[in-house]
Amino acid sequence: MKLSVIGTGYVGTVTAACFAELGHEVICVDTDEKKVDMINSRQAPIIEDGLDEILKRNVGVSLHATNNYEEAVRNTDFSFICVGTPSDIDGNIDLQPLKNACRCLGTNLRNKKKYHCVVVKSTVVPKTTEDVVIPIIEKESGKSAGSEFGVSMNPEFLREGKAVYDFMNPDKIVIGGIDKRSQLCVKELYDKIDTNVSITDLKTAEMIKYVNNSFLATKVSFANEIGNICKLMGINTYEVMEQVGKDFRISPHFLRSGAGFGGSCFPKDVRALIGKSIELGYDPKILQSVIELNEKQPLKVIDILKKKMNKLEGTQITVLGLAFKSGTDDIRESSSIPIINYLLEKGAYVVAYDPLAMNNMRNVFSNIRYTSTIEEALENSDACLLMTDWDEFREIDNELNLMKRKLVIDARYVLNPNDIKADIKYEGLCW
Ligand code: UDX
Repeated sequence: MKLSVIGTGYVGTVTAACFAELGHEVICVDTDEKKVDMINSRQAPIIEDGLDEILKRNVGVSLHATNNYEEAVRNTDFSFICVGTPSDIDGNIDLQPLKNACRCLGTNLRNKKKYHCVVVKSTVVPKTTEDVVIPIIEKESGKSAGSEFGVSMNPEFLREGKAVYDFMNPDKIVIGGIDKRSQLCVKELYDKIDTNVSITDLKTAEMIKYVNNSFLATKVSFANEIGNICKLMGINTYEVMEQVGKDFRISPHFLRSGAGFGGSCFPKDVRALIGKSIELGYDPKILQSVIELNEKQPLKVIDILKKKMNKLEGTQITVLGLAFKSGTDDIRESSSIPIINYLLEKGAYVVAYDPLAMNNMRNVFSNIRYTSTIEEALENSDACLLMTDWDEFREIDNELNLMKRKLVIDARYVLNPNDIKADIKYEGLCW
């Protein structure tokens, strides 16, 4: 089957590459020439496990990129909208990129005779496909949704760093559609994937995505709250959650407490659901607490640091881990950001190391020192803050000896508290 993918960010690039790998003919569309050129020269515009190999196999064979909507719409039967939906200053999602994509699709559908199905994959608040996407495309194309073109909403549940694996091995596929024809033709695209496929209406599919992410974010904030209480009682919350997670009704996942959740999805999606609820006259207390607790959680690291050190001015603090989680170079909403801000404000000298995310962090902080090894980062430091759970941070016993004062604050349970040497002052965030 032939499909186009609008937007070559995390979701768009992975979707396009994986559909090509499944045997479809795929055209990526982006207005950014640089990204188009990168894909056409078989380079992934993002760091994602397994993506480079898929691009190498498929670009020039069943996959190519263009900035030309007309070419993409004319030569394919489906267009997946995968543009970003960033938050505006009030936390509501900014629909401009989505509206632009809809206008371009609509204009190019005007003269197309063959049936074409528009599939929204971008995360949008319930009813956006009905109230925003369909009216724009109908206006620009002069056609009616359902009878003259198909409309579907097919949310993604891809974790950064594991997105290719998640696309190929999903727990579920949700396909919302304006009618049976739209639902069934999108379902066919996934025929080679063996999983549970649910067919819904458009707004239910949109809601499933928000609830999925909001529930996981709630689990993390709940785990952090329990961790904060455990800390006050000298209990290791990880031991507690290991047992609690054995209850099949709870499951062991997303119970790791630490410095809070970040990334491009959880904070934005929970805030958008809060914004929508308030707009509807409902006060979403649980969701608001999830965000409130998450915003305060990184500062718990600072509370511990302040208790251990008389003053921060003039001290050297090492931050190990800048990415919002391991396995990615993404620093969006990373809990390291408020911490580095605070340290700089107090006059500390910050040295940072991350295996992948230093380049991205340079755009946020040009005034801290980045090192190419863990050793360099720890040399002569007064404290080390472990902010991301990279595997390479688990074996840093010898490197810790390079520090001036051996204070380690572990915000992600990277080190095993039972293995810490006697001369290291170790403090866990929630244990
Ligand atoms: C998430 C969803 O998992 C995915 O389905 C969705 O489509 C996009 O958003 P991602 O943002 O890549 O994926 O990150 P994820 O692995 O879910 O972790 C989110 C955040 O929660 C990270 O900051 C992580 O460190 C934190 N987290 C996760 C915890 O603090 N504790 C946990 O137990 C699990």
